[in-house]
Amino acid sequence: MLILGIESSCDETAASIVGDCRTIKSSVISTQIEEHKKYGGVVPEIASRRHCENILGVTRKALDDAGVTLADIDAVAVTYAPGLIGALLVGVSFAKSLAMSAGKPLVPVHHIAGHIATNYLTHPQLEPPYLCLVASGGHSHIIEVLSYTRFRVVGRTRDDAAGECFDKCARAMGFPYPGGVHVDQAAQTGDPTAFRLPKPTVAGNEFDLSFSGLKTSVINLIHNSQQKGIKLNYNDLSASIQSTISEVLTDRTIRAAEALGYRKVALAGGVSANSGVRAALSAACADKGFEFYMPEKSLCGDNGAMIACQGSYNFLAGITADESLNAIATLSMDEI
Ligand code: KG4
Ligand code: ZN
Repeated sequence: MLILGIESSCDETAASIVGDCRTIKSSVISTQIEEHKKYGGVVPEIASRRHCENILGVTRKALDDAGVTLADIDAVAVTYAPGLIGALLVGVSFAKSLAMSAGKPLVPVHHIAGHIATNYLTHPQLEPPYLCLVASGGHSHIIEVLSYTRFRVVGRTRDDAAGECFDKCARAMGFPYPGGVHVDQAAQTGDPTAFRLPKPTVAGNEFDLSFSGLKTSVINLIHNSQQKGIKLNYNDLSASIQSTISEVLTDRTIRAAEALGYRKVALAGGVSANSGVRAALSAACADKGFEFYMPEKSLCGDNGAMIACQGSYNFLAGITADESLNAIATLSMDEI
């Protein structure tokens, strides 16, 4: 079985061919980071326009790199939610037309389910059920992966996502967009105990997360120091931010795993590339005797292979869409 996966939910135009659910035959990613960097964040209209320009070329290259033609493909999978609406619409419209003209089934994929699937591409032996922490620029979720296509959200951020917190703190320190990776780099030589930062707790659901308090406290710290002419050590501050975020994410995930009886834990999403988060969750799982899975670094950010992989499982489960498929900007995993 060969599935073409198309991703355009944010600032990466991506397409990939995946065979037999887990074998990447090709993966092409056209990133717009350099363009959005000028503005310090993603400009939605620019993102849509670049997707429009690039999507055909990226898809053609994915087919060529895999040495196949559209006729060889079993289905066209596409991210339809959640994300920037104008960006999603480009991918959905394109995938719909492609599927219709080639006479192939169309398979809708939820972006977060796609991130979770990066672990199937990395670990051939991984099978549901397990608990997955998904932390990205737009989402921070603790999710029960009940089967390849059924999910239950048990914890979520009440405000900012972990990636957003990394990026906003990075911006305040003057690092370029997207700042998460720069915080990670600076943290390598910093002291994680140098700054005591707030570790937010939220009332109500004990597995929910909150990062806006941490973000605000870091931004205030930086601005106050700048006003007083004090130069903070950004390596130490980065290490302190990273260890605080890693600790909070790890604590909630481990608590949820214990409470729900999971001994298999996975990590996914753009923030799963973070060295602190990878190390903290992997150490905590080892300590508890849990199996732990994380995607290889090249699959952590948005890509087409994750959509093709999850699209394969959706297709096998009979999840297809007709010509009325639309893009949805906000859609919880509980609703799919
Ligand atoms: O999954 P993703 O590519 O896009 C969304 O679906 O949101 O995640 C992007 C997020 C950004 O916030 C980016 O700064 C963050 O992932 N990120 C990192 C690292 N690499 C990417 N955050 C911390 N450390 C990293 N090494
Ligand atoms: Zn993503």
